[in-house]
Amino acid sequence: MNKKIRKIGIITGGGDCSGLNAVINGITKTAINKYGVEVVGFTRGYKGLYSNDFRDLGLKSVSGIMHEGGTILKSSNKDNLFHYPIKHPDGSVTYKDVSDDAIRNMKYLGIDALIVIGGDGTLTSARDFHRKGLPIVGVPKTIDNDLPATDVTFGYNTSLETITDAMDKIHTTAYSHDRVMVVEVMGRHSGWLALEGGLAGSADVILIPEIPYNLNSIVEKVRQRDAFGRNFSVIIVSEGAFEKDGDVVVREIVEDSADSVRLGGVGFVITQQLQKLIPEHEVRYTNLAYIQRGGITSQFDRSLGLLFGVNAVDLLMNGGTGRMVQLRGRKITSIPLEEVVGSGETGETSRGGGKRVDPEGQYVQAAKSIGISFGDQ
Ligand code: F6P
Repeated sequence: MNKKIRKIGIITGGGDCSGLNAVINGITKTAINKYGVEVVGFTRGYKGLYSNDFRDLGLKSVSGIMHEGGTILKSSNKDNLFHYPIKHPDGSVTYKDVSDDAIRNMKYLGIDALIVIGGDGTLTSARDFHRKGLPIVGVPKTIDNDLPATDVTFGYNTSLETITDAMDKIHTTAYSHDRVMVVEVMGRHSGWLALEGGLAGSADVILIPEIPYNLNSIVEKVRQRDAFGRNFSVIIVSEGAFEKDGDVVVREIVEDSADSVRLGGVGFVITQQLQKLIPEHEVRYTNLAYIQRGGITSQFDRSLGLLFGVNAVDLLMNGGTGRMVQLRGRKITSIPLEEVVGSGETGETSRGGGKRVDPEGQYVQAAKSIGISFGDQ
């Protein structure tokens, strides 16, 4: 056991998701009960580390939070301390590496090590702090299921439950009005949410970034259903899906974010296009957007979050610094941060990397076997 670690700091960075509070719960209780180590939580990701904004985490402060979505510590997907925006009185912004100030703050507060929960951007900074000698352990987080270094993370399952529930609700109104409904879900580079949500939610068409679509093929599927007497159709589309020879639909550029491009709206574009091609139907659009990131955490995500939290502390206290916990099969193991970030490997910063849906894989083939269209014929 590493007796030099007496106080641990926790950071939750990047977009929030369900299960973060389960991780915080697991870390805090294990650190205090098993190792007699104190815990503090920095507020709003790395920003709290730089601005000394933190709270003490005791057994009472993490009690009763397991089921709650979001993070009690708040989060931020900006605030890269290695490239930190300094705003000047004249309105201009320059960037500065303030990581050494953050390390000084930590030392002043008597914090010996960090556990950082986040996606590619957050874990890349964790790796860089580790390179500076800071004892650190990472915990992977994404609802998009696009991290290859772990079979799955918490948050994904809860999002799928939300999507499936929405798909059930959309079906009854689609049927009642003979409408074509387009449901947009998250998934910038990987179509897992649309694929698994579409399978469970009985979509007729699933559009994902890995399989560029063609509008005529969607129209053909709708008409086939009409001919069969099913005068309604439900289409689920990942925000990162795009037409053959087309490009993704960008909602906004967030300049001070590590991954500045925010997608959104492809479902609206498809709705307008389809409306012209199938005037016999009314076509309607629903974007599930941030609803997918909130809500009561599912049993699976509570368990996985808790196991990640407990194992992150065990790892840190037993010489596993510079590593990230991961799920392989039904076992929690770990992998060096150097191997999982910064190369686009995790998928959150690179369209090329990440754990992507295999168009020839079992899920897509199963969907095709039961007649679901991917708009690619
Ligand atoms: O990476 C997870 C994710 O949920 C994406 O699917 C989505 O595009 C993005 O976060 C939205 O992030 P923001 O909170 O910056 O709008």
